[in-house]
Amino acid sequence: MEYHKVCAKPCSSYLFFAILLLFASLASFVDAAVHFHEFVIEAKPVKRLCRTHSTITVNGQFPGPTLEVRDGDTLVIKAINRARYNVTLHWHGVRQLRNPWADGPEFVTQCPIRPGQSYTYQFTIQNQQGTLWWHAHSRWLRATVYGALIIYPKLGSPYPFPMPKREIPILLGEWWDRNPMDVLRLALFTGAAPNISDALTINGQPGDLYRCSSKETAIFPVEAGETILLRIINSAMNEEMFFGVANHKLTVVAVDSAYTKPFATNVIMIAPGQTTDVLLTADQTSARYYMAAHAYNTANAPFDNTTTTAILEYKSDPVSAKKGQSLKPIFPQLPGFNDTATATAFTAQLRSLSKAKVPLEIDESLFFTVGLGLINCTNPNSRRCQGPNGTRFAASINNVSFVFPRRNSLMQAYYQGQPGIFTTDFPPFPPVQYDYSGNVPRGLWQPVKATKLFKLKYRSKVQIVFQDTSIVTVEDHPMHLHGYQFYVVGSGFGNFDPKNDPAKFNLIDPPERNTIGTPPGGWVAIRFEADNPGIWLLHCHLDSHLPWGLATALLVENGVGKLQTVQPPPLDLPRC
Ligand code: C2O
Repeated sequence: MEYHKVCAKPCSSYLFFAILLLFASLASFVDAAVHFHEFVIEAKPVKRLCRTHSTITVNGQFPGPTLEVRDGDTLVIKAINRARYNVTLHWHGVRQLRNPWADGPEFVTQCPIRPGQSYTYQFTIQNQQGTLWWHAHSRWLRATVYGALIIYPKLGSPYPFPMPKREIPILLGEWWDRNPMDVLRLALFTGAAPNISDALTINGQPGDLYRCSSKETAIFPVEAGETILLRIINSAMNEEMFFGVANHKLTVVAVDSAYTKPFATNVIMIAPGQTTDVLLTADQTSARYYMAAHAYNTANAPFDNTTTTAILEYKSDPVSAKKGQSLKPIFPQLPGFNDTATATAFTAQLRSLSKAKVPLEIDESLFFTVGLGLINCTNPNSRRCQGPNGTRFAASINNVSFVFPRRNSLMQAYYQGQPGIFTTDFPPFPPVQYDYSGNVPRGLWQPVKATKLFKLKYRSKVQIVFQDTSIVTVEDHPMHLHGYQFYVVGSGFGNFDPKNDPAKFNLIDPPERNTIGTPPGGWVAIRFEADNPGIWLLHCHLDSHLPWGLATALLVENGVGKLQTVQPPPLDLPRC
């Protein structure tokens, strides 16, 4: 009785809306799937370049399994470590909102999964579409432990371009003819640069131009006339790359899981950590065409100057069918190894598909110098000082060479209030001002080792200018920020000019990315809103530079209430 009284007219309409809401949320539940996977990390024999190595793989596969999900889906991945190394997995580019526990960098958001142990990564894809990838985030394991993460649009929402007939993930990688973990261990012992790789790879295969590799060259069949989507991922350790397909234009439609305004190009430049989705129309004479990649090298340092290939093969290739033999594929023209003009022209064409939500008023304006350094030795003849002139290599941001903690992860220490693991006094600008990209006095080459984080208020609007230094060498450093997508609002060569450069920023449709390179001897500016609380690693995605300390972490404070606060950690989170 009471109920009916209270509920007369307004209540029935409430009820109606409540039912409507229920259906709406049910519908979205039905749409969003949960994907369960087991990733067993284990050594398996893998033969490349005529030799078999005991290679760390996931489920015995190299490269590892491709994950295919839709925007809004949840992934539950149980990582089982049957290898003899500590391991963690990172879902590169996934925002992990309020969920740093699933992010994965070793000693940053978690302690490593010990041999014989396991940990379940659970996370939801929220408003991301396109191509991302996953990789180990522990020492140099990612050299072989990596795979594609493909995010389709929500059910019923189309691509912003004609639906391609087929999709091919293209994972660019690097292969060492030895155990990559030993390559790193030796370098960290001697203080010298790690050995360069012996081959570049496409989907794990070096291709026709390397010894003992022709038979396994990746071949991608294509029907004449059809349009295909190549999801290109640079999963290499230390090389930016140029990539092209002979006689075919590539139309860029997305980078780093965000759509771009389409543009056609003969060649793309892609840095480690980045992804680029391109459309390719098979509009050439039926034949076989090489796709090829080689290094874009910006440093004054040794690099892997070999070329990896795969083959795009028209299914009805009448020429080869008639002669009963396949002709040598046509080779694409790739830019020279140091062709910065081409790399810059390519990057400059990237634009967000629609008007971007770029922060206009900035709360935190940060200026980060990034580059190499040298640690002086008391005994320069020591076996541990094999770097230039008896030094040890280092790298830094604002002269701080980041030291990863060992006793606990940063995030666990922060959550538990454990002191002594890190400090939050990372400098917002370099301690000394100098001509960063010019002739730097030798006295400024030695960084200071520390575990310093930079603290940000929840929802503060942040700008970071990354300034490459010429210490040891200028170089394109692909800077990757975990837990965020940022807008790349400007870049240039030489030193950043805070008076005149901001006026030239693109605040309308800058590209949205998770990894962006500093032009060699130049700067790049990014903006984002700190809407994801937690501790997020910011680092150079060249894996020779990361252990040298080219990193820091952003500590983004909680906001108000549950929805602005880091979730509690999962129960199986590994302890140190
Ligand atoms: Cu793709 Cu910190 O990594």
